[in-house]
Amino acid sequence: MDNKTSKSSIETVMKETRVFSPPTEFTSQALIKDSKSYQELWEESQKNPEKFWQKEAESLHWFEKWHTTHEWKEPFSRWFLGGKINVAYNCLDRHLPTQKDKLAYIWEGEDGSVRTLTFQQLYEEVSQLANALENKLGLKPGDTAAIYMPLVPEAIIAMLACARIGVAHSIVFAGFSSLSLKDRVLDADCKIIFTADLGYRRGQTLDLKKIVREAVAECPSVQTTLILRRDPTTQLSKNEIDWNTFVADQSRTHKAQPFDSEHPLFYLYTSGTTGKPKGIVHSSGGYLLGVATTAKWIFDLKDQDIYWCTADIGWITGHSYVVYGLLANGATSLIYEGAPMHPQAGRIWEIIDKHKVTILYTAPTAIRAFMRAGDEYVIKHSLKSLRLLGSVGEPINPEAWMWYHQIVGKGKCPIVDTWWQTETGSILISPIPGVTPLKPGSATRPFPGIVADIVNEEGKTCAPNEGGYLVIRHPWPSMLRTLHKNPERYKEGYWSRFKGLYFTGDGAHRDEQGYFWIKGRVDDVINVSGHRLGTMEIESALVSHPRVAEAAVVGRPDELKGQSIVAFVTPRDSGEKLDIKILVQELKAHVVNEIGALARPDEIKFTKTLPKTRSGKIMRRLLKDLASGKEISGDTTTLENPGLIEIIES
Ligand code: PRX
Repeated sequence: MDNKTSKSSIETVMKETRVFSPPTEFTSQALIKDSKSYQELWEESQKNPEKFWQKEAESLHWFEKWHTTHEWKEPFSRWFLGGKINVAYNCLDRHLPTQKDKLAYIWEGEDGSVRTLTFQQLYEEVSQLANALENKLGLKPGDTAAIYMPLVPEAIIAMLACARIGVAHSIVFAGFSSLSLKDRVLDADCKIIFTADLGYRRGQTLDLKKIVREAVAECPSVQTTLILRRDPTTQLSKNEIDWNTFVADQSRTHKAQPFDSEHPLFYLYTSGTTGKPKGIVHSSGGYLLGVATTAKWIFDLKDQDIYWCTADIGWITGHSYVVYGLLANGATSLIYEGAPMHPQAGRIWEIIDKHKVTILYTAPTAIRAFMRAGDEYVIKHSLKSLRLLGSVGEPINPEAWMWYHQIVGKGKCPIVDTWWQTETGSILISPIPGVTPLKPGSATRPFPGIVADIVNEEGKTCAPNEGGYLVIRHPWPSMLRTLHKNPERYKEGYWSRFKGLYFTGDGAHRDEQGYFWIKGRVDDVINVSGHRLGTMEIESALVSHPRVAEAAVVGRPDELKGQSIVAFVTPRDSGEKLDIKILVQELKAHVVNEIGALARPDEIKFTKTLPKTRSGKIMRRLLKDLASGKEISGDTTTLENPGLIEIIES
């Protein structure tokens, strides 16, 4: 099939049918016998979410059972009080009696090398590291560790070793700059950093230890850097320890300690509406329950599955659906350190055939890039092992959905479009494959136990098809507990806009059948290739450059990336002649240096002044129109200086 035929068949299917009925074999969960029994269970769970979660919690291992399922002192929610649990025990030890030789991970490197780890091997590696952290460094519950690593098994081993000994981990995506790493490490008071000397991507070698060294130089809390040496000639500096030597003499068993259900499992920093990223705090019991239950139901996990989530562990998707949710179900996952289109555009499909992947979970940006590369890269692979496809991170446009369904899934794999956030911990809105009829572009309906709604400015439920704000009406087990060191910002950011409701920051509408259609952020957060960025964060980076007086950043719709980054900058008059071309390059490099390559502006426009209201607020709506090349629309009567939106050069 060539590009042309596939496009026209996609258009025909889209015209003819908007609703896909699920294939019947997708009902592996005992609780879901058929659509009718699922509907009953779902309705019951809306009336009594605690009852639903309590029943599911029975399937985890608890050292001591909880006495109180849920305590709600708005806006603070606590789950399974009195319950004692160890997350790593649930991910590893629990599976050993029945499946110690089953693969937990298949790792593939960009050069095609493969490494596998069974549950027994993973348990042993985690035990050795946990022992070394306790015995040699004296780490204890309540301490914090940073992880800045490429996607290698050791990154997961570090997460599980921390979880096992009650040390909260804070993973920083290894694409962030040393300044971003430093800010996060300082905020979380990390005592140790796990890293590797090198990472590999797109044929390039990334010098991770250099970035870590720059950050650590300004982080007094860090006592040790544990380095996985991939190049044996790498020299170690003061306070750096070689990973393999560190664990070599340690026992390969470790007794997991029980922790309070509410014990913090990890912090994960994410962008918000202010300049500084916020440290989302996740719990142990509630978080694990959320990710384990959703992974089991939404990915319809069966014993023989080979599951591949393409996210990096630096993001919440990696935490929940590369590591905790999957291991808790004893599933086999593939992880790949490299770019999915390297060294050729069909690499991802080659890997699927090579390892017989059955479930693929990826982001719409990636799907659009594969689609643009051309069907020929897909159809030369059989992909016959695939049975389920997933999408996450941003709205998926119906065209990309159809292409994913027809060309990748050969029309036989349901697509689970999963809506959630770093804050929600686990998926909140998604189809259940085999149960929920699908509509391309809709994340369909809330998961059982999740009471979602769409409300207007006054907090009243919107009528069908009326646009409004996506909110959650009732706390759920895997929700964030607070913001690290900032409970006020937690309260203000999520619980103050609508009294008693969790505000997601997303706009959406619901159709007559109760299906949710998520539009995207309504705040100053933008979503670039499925990565969340705060416009204020990029603005702060820009104004820290000496030649910048003021900056405003907006998202512009982008066919491939969802949104691209456009910055409006007012240069500071230094008396010197302005060389726009050089300054553009300098500012882009400056943002990369301050935040990381993922925040590099796609376009910088210089203006003599920024459009502001009389009260001094930047009129972003106007800048968004300008950035997308639209005529300036709407009311500009409150504009302080309407004549001055003059672009010096774009
Ligand atoms: O705007 C929504 C979008 O991603 C935001 C959350 O970003 P982050 O915390 O980085 O987590 C991403 C991975 C879970 C949301 O507020 N988003 C996420 N999934 C979807 C989505 N938008 C539409 N459809 C989705 N399936």
